[in-house]
Amino acid sequence: MKNLGILLSGRGSNFEAIARNVAAGKIPAKIALVVSNRENAPGLARARAMGLNTRFIPLQGKDREAYDRDVVAALKEHQVDWVCLAGFMRVLSPYFVRAFPGRILNIHPALLPAFPGLDAQKQALEAGVKFSGCTVHLVDEGVDTGPIVCQAVVPVLDNDTVETLSARILEEEHRIYSEAICLLLENKVRVENRRVALL
Ligand code: GRF
Repeated sequence: MKNLGILLSGRGSNFEAIARNVAAGKIPAKIALVVSNRENAPGLARARAMGLNTRFIPLQGKDREAYDRDVVAALKEHQVDWVCLAGFMRVLSPYFVRAFPGRILNIHPALLPAFPGLDAQKQALEAGVKFSGCTVHLVDEGVDTGPIVCQAVVPVLDNDTVETLSARILEEEHRIYSEAICLLLENKVRVENRRVALL
């Protein structure tokens, strides 16, 4: 059984969807540790209430790599195999990415490579695209640039606001993040350069 480490900064709805699927036996893994850089993240409280191991790791003026060393140490302490970023509002240092080579996943609320970075749903609305969606990708040293594992498409409606579009995308996020985790844990994909192919 593989160990998952979840990193979050806020609401934690993607974490909760993953945790539900782990509890239901749909993801063949254990959540070994939930880490947050924000003490009052609702997702962290939820993880505690579920009886999971949690760790608030404060920034306390550390530089990016020093901070990441603390997070990596906590993850290694709990024998984490795979790291899932679930609304973790920090860019990982090369040190972190190299500590878990090819074993870090992120979910992004747009069809990458369109609209990377912050406020992806707002970017999509402003660009006037007719479809957007979400992407689960492996994390490399760039921002939202790693190999794409799964995507889901949702329509952008004429009367959409950032809130309504975000809600429509979020539903798909909750579905495809667990799907992507299963594909990788069960070795059902092959990663070749930027392409992730189903076996
Ligand atoms: C999601 O929209 C996710 O795509 C993005 O941050 C948001 C996190 O939401 N990376 P939640 O904390 O999982 O509810």
